[in-house]
Amino acid sequence: MTYITVPLETGHNRSAFSCGKEILDQYIQKQARQDMKRHLAVVFVLPDESGRIKGYYTLSNDSISRDIVPPGIQKKMPQAYRNLPVSLLGRLAVDNEFQKQGLGEQLLLDALHRCADIAETEIGSMAVVVDPLDKEAILFYEQYGFIFLPTRGRMFIPMKTIKQLF
Ligand SMILES: CC(C)(COP(=O)(O)OP(=O)(O)OC[C@H]1O[C@@H](n2cnc3c(N)ncnc32)[C@H](O)[C@@H]1OP(=O)(O)O)[C@@H](O)C(=O)NCCC(=O)NCCS
Repeated sequence: MTYITVPLETGHNRSAFSCGKEILDQYIQKQARQDMKRHLAVVFVLPDESGRIKGYYTLSNDSISRDIVPPGIQKKMPQAYRNLPVSLLGRLAVDNEFQKQGLGEQLLLDALHRCADIAETEIGSMAVVVDPLDKEAILFYEQYGFIFLPTRGRMFIPMKTIKQLF
């Protein structure tokens, strides 16, 4: 599988990034490199030819309590797994100049594809979870099949559903 994104490097221009959400602009400008150094997240970017970042997302390992997944899925999970391994799509943003051209969708599918590939052969993960920032983000993720978990506004999409997307 080829991906449209690459891990963030020092050559990428982060300072010009502006997506309309201050917290996501600050993240890529100030925190992203630190998070990578500490192995808290891998930041994947879509750069243009000059290195300017058109969009980015982050991935980390996470886990969720088996008690909060929908009953139909829960009953298929062995009791021994009190916590279920998941992939966290921590952040996803497209620069203002490139919004509404399909890049958000391409970045999301790129992230889901990576997660599905990793879950298949490298590290177990039964779903992708997101923590949407606001109502707009919720609407964006709902279009792709993310559903709410009953905790802290988290949404998730089972790996099984992701595989059906591709
Ligand atoms: C949300 C975001 C990533 C969408 O990126 P984008 O490149 O503009 O989106 P796309 O052009 O790929 O659109 C994909 C679909 O999502 C919809 N969409 C785009 N922005 C949306 C928004 N803000 N709210 C709801 N739906 C949205 C589009 O209508 C499109 O659906 P359609 O094909 O049925 O028309 C982008 O607006 C962004 O970076 N916003 C600021 C950061 C943010 O809120 N991130 C959310 C995760 S925390």
